[in-house]
Amino acid sequence: VGTENINTEIITLTRFLTEEQTKHKEATGDFTLLCHALQFAFKSIAYYIRRSTLINLTGLAGSSNTTGDDQKKLDVIGNDIFIAAMRSCARVRVLVSEEEEECIVFPAGPNARYAVVCDPIDGSSNLDAGVSVGTIFGVYLLGEDAAGTKEDLLKPGSELVASGFTMYGASAQLVITMRGGGVNGFTLDNALGEFILTHPEMRIPKTRAIYSVNEGNSLYWEEPVKEYVNSLKYPGEGGKPYSARYIGSMVADAYRTLLYGGIFAYPADKKSPKGKLRILYECAPMGLVFENAGGQAIDSNMKRMLDVVPEHIHDRSGIFMGSWDEVQKVVDIHKKHG
Ligand code: AHG
Ligand code: MN
Ligand code: MN
Ligand code: MN
Repeated sequence: VGTENINTEIITLTRFLTEEQTKHKEATGDFTLLCHALQFAFKSIAYYIRRSTLINLTGLAGSSNTTGDDQKKLDVIGNDIFIAAMRSCARVRVLVSEEEEECIVFPAGPNARYAVVCDPIDGSSNLDAGVSVGTIFGVYLLGEDAAGTKEDLLKPGSELVASGFTMYGASAQLVITMRGGGVNGFTLDNALGEFILTHPEMRIPKTRAIYSVNEGNSLYWEEPVKEYVNSLKYPGEGGKPYSARYIGSMVADAYRTLLYGGIFAYPADKKSPKGKLRILYECAPMGLVFENAGGQAIDSNMKRMLDVVPEHIHDRSGIFMGSWDEVQKVVDIHKKHG
């Protein structure tokens, strides 16, 4: 290799965050430090997932969480890693995790101004098969008078200051967005131990003939959902049917949808009238990513996902998210049904 092929101007996540911070004169550096703790958690979780079959980290932990899921060993370890990272950075006051019944309150401090929500391992049923899983996160800025309780987190996703996810696939891919900003994607270089900016300013294609839904639930679907999915599969004279892609890890299905376009859905249905995915740490963070990438995210009532306010920290919602035009078709069919 000639030296001209070596890129010495790579943008690491650390550099990216430093540059973002200097753009905002009012920035204190607290958010940057919080992001450093987040990226350490992602690297650490990625490391254990990669080694899980070698170090007896496959299988069940023998416990279940508040939302009724059997916890895998890695659900528990991922949760512990995440909590330790958030506690030790001393920038977080309240933390909600899928794996914790109650929210975790850290000591108050002048710099502990953030509330964080997380799904430490998303798609954990896929872990033992080595299929891609992920971590989802969302960050809220607390008001001066915030008590540091779960009430501080029962807010709409539109108030998120940042959100994103890391997918642990062939490589670890981190996607992050900030309120009012763009969406940027980073790839973990294992040798450097750094996330490198590989997907700057991600924009979701406006349309694409791919749908992603657990069709095994179609027996329970409401009429408009059935009609919508059928319209993709049976497009009528001369039309080409959509391709189906469903991994069963929302992060992985969402990442593909972000890159290729199409739609991901987990609708509310007759069996799960409130849907399956949880608002705070699954739906809202994804909603911000998809909107900031130029797509849409809505719930089963066709309401903007970012406007949905949970009553309890583990509340669920139906969700449709993806390319603008694809999600609009769902809205139009629901409108027709009134
Ligand atoms: P988690 O592993 O964090 O509990 O989330 C599971 C979610 C999500 O990853 C995925 O989209 C969905 O469950 C898959 O559900 P089905 O197996 O019902 O399709
Ligand atoms: Mn779970
Ligand atoms: Mn999940
Ligand atoms: Mn999970």
